[in-house]
Amino acid sequence: MNVFGGSWTDQKLEIVVEYTKAYLEIMKSRRYWKLLYFDGFAGSGKTGKEKISEEKGSKIIEGAAKRILAINDPRSFDQYYFVEKNKKFVNKLRESIDTDFHFKKVSTTVVSGDCNEKLKDMAAFLSYRGPDYKVLAFIDPCGMQLKWESIECLKGLSIDMWILVPLGMGVNRLLKKDGNISDSWMKKLQEFLGLSSFEIKDAFYEDQPVLPLFGKETKEVKKEKTIEIAGELYRKRLKNVFKYVSKPFLLENKKHNIMYHFLLGSNNRTAVKIANDIINKWSRKIG
Ligand SMILES: C[S@@+](CC[C@H](N)C(=O)[O-])C[C@H]1O[C@@H](n2cnc3c(N)ncnc32)[C@H](O)[C@@H]1O
Repeated sequence: MNVFGGSWTDQKLEIVVEYTKAYLEIMKSRRYWKLLYFDGFAGSGKTGKEKISEEKGSKIIEGAAKRILAINDPRSFDQYYFVEKNKKFVNKLRESIDTDFHFKKVSTTVVSGDCNEKLKDMAAFLSYRGPDYKVLAFIDPCGMQLKWESIECLKGLSIDMWILVPLGMGVNRLLKKDGNISDSWMKKLQEFLGLSSFEIKDAFYEDQPVLPLFGKETKEVKKEKTIEIAGELYRKRLKNVFKYVSKPFLLENKKHNIMYHFLLGSNNRTAVKIANDIINKWSRKIG
């Protein structure tokens, strides 16, 4: 079993499944396009445990891969492409798809590899076969594995992409209070945000006087509300790649700290309107 539980797992998957059904409803009559579902961090097929109650214990949540494959109505995708780095999970997912979906007469591929590489391969493929294909992608990493350059290469392509962005869980934790960020953490931030170290410092740090009464001397300190700053910044960056970007669905821990932003990028206005409606509904639901 893949252990990344928490009830936000279920919320995120419900949003993707609801969006996918709406997407397939629109595509039902548009058979001239081949529909490809791309899952870049596919997991093993099962995704952690969610606690139901003290008495009832917990339930294992079916992962996105199998939930998306289970959608036949209004239609299926023509091709499903799952990427997973962990070979054990790859084997489990393959077995599980063979068992549960052997009847489904569509092309299903599970590959062992790095999502970053596969996104670049897909971008090259779509640049060549673009007019024939529409892609719905789900990018669900557990950390900061997705590099900005892998998103950037999708600019102008026919792709709707749900992305889980670990801004509280990942980025904010690397932004040390005193600005003393190690080289390896700075490299990680640069790769993830696609920004230079100067741009990162400028976005998240400010100079404060050491002795406010007299001082000309200053020290670098982390700004307030850096998760919110990171959220705005990442969304703005996404808008350079996709024409439209949804509002984020915020995944919080029990103390109401924002851990992840979950949002959709698309070149289609209607796609983002549908995503926003679903996000609003789920935001109201969890209060
Ligand atoms: C949060 S889990 C995905 C859960 C999955 N979406 C589901 O619904 O079951 C993230 C997965 O990404 C895999 N992973 C980590 N780094 C990766 C990479 N660079 N490329 C592809 N998969 C990766 C991990 O092994 C893990 O199974």
